[in-house]
Amino acid sequence: MIRLEGQVAIVTGGARGIGAGICELFCKAGATVALWDVLDSGAETAARIAQSGASIFYQKVDITSKSEVEAAVAQLIEKHQKIDILINNAGVIRDRSFLKMEQSDWDTVMNVNLNALFITCKAVVPHMKAAGYGRIVSASSINGFQGAFGQTNYAATKAGIAGFTRALCKELGRYGVTVNAVAPGFIKSEMTDSMPKAVIEQQIAQIPVGRIGTVEDMGYAYLFLASKEAGYISGITLHANGGAMPM
Ligand SMILES: NC(=O)c1ccc[n+]([C@@H]2O[C@H](COP(=O)([O-])OP(=O)(O)OC[C@H]3O[C@@H](n4cnc5c(N)ncnc54)[C@H](O)[C@@H]3O)[C@@H](O)[C@H]2O)c1
Repeated sequence: MIRLEGQVAIVTGGARGIGAGICELFCKAGATVALWDVLDSGAETAARIAQSGASIFYQKVDITSKSEVEAAVAQLIEKHQKIDILINNAGVIRDRSFLKMEQSDWDTVMNVNLNALFITCKAVVPHMKAAGYGRIVSASSINGFQGAFGQTNYAATKAGIAGFTRALCKELGRYGVTVNAVAPGFIKSEMTDSMPKAVIEQQIAQIPVGRIGTVEDMGYAYLFLASKEAGYISGITLHANGGAMPM
């Protein structure tokens, strides 16, 4: 198994769902994990994972706030002197057909899913550059590539993340920093649990491997791209969707 011993990782949106799965797997691989979330339940998630002896702690951080992100990064650097891995996993949906979509639905999704990437990367990249090493992996989505009814806002951000990733990789490769994305397909989490049962069944029927994805499935995709071993892979979006949309 890929190991992350001695490495310090930030996982945004780690309180639940895919982010919690990433935190758990990274801890099993030996990393020290800073779990960032706006939900206070992030403290419970960190405490649950820490029961197995893992090195994980919760930092309450709203990734849309430059000052909160900068303060959390400063704390981490003071304590650990480095940040090896940044997982930009946090994301939100505000689904509405375009004609009914409010400006606030658009702005919220832009701010959390896309603008926050500028904030987190701005705060972390200088430390990775100074160390000559880094792994940045961000959450795209199958719907950023295939589109989805009611998700013009969400699809725009998730396609934007793939473009951001391709561009930033060209700037940071010379510093030993790789930049990649994972595009999950249909994954069981609080985000998808809120969908009507009929929609869930319809989605699963279109997945060649015949099942909904799990947070562990996603965790392994992130783990690979976050590893030293993936050092020759940069700028890609890894599609993890059970074959639902071969790329
Ligand atoms: N579940 C899926 O099927 C699926 C599919 C494709 C892509 N994704 C993407 O994967 C990521 C994780 O999805 P999930 O299903 O686990 O979602 P989720 O809603 O279960 O978890 C998202 C987490 O992000 C946190 N978050 C939201 N806004 C934040 C902010 N401003 N600052 C810090 N944290 C914040 C939430 O509190 C939550 O803990 C998202 O980016 C999502 O778009 C999920």
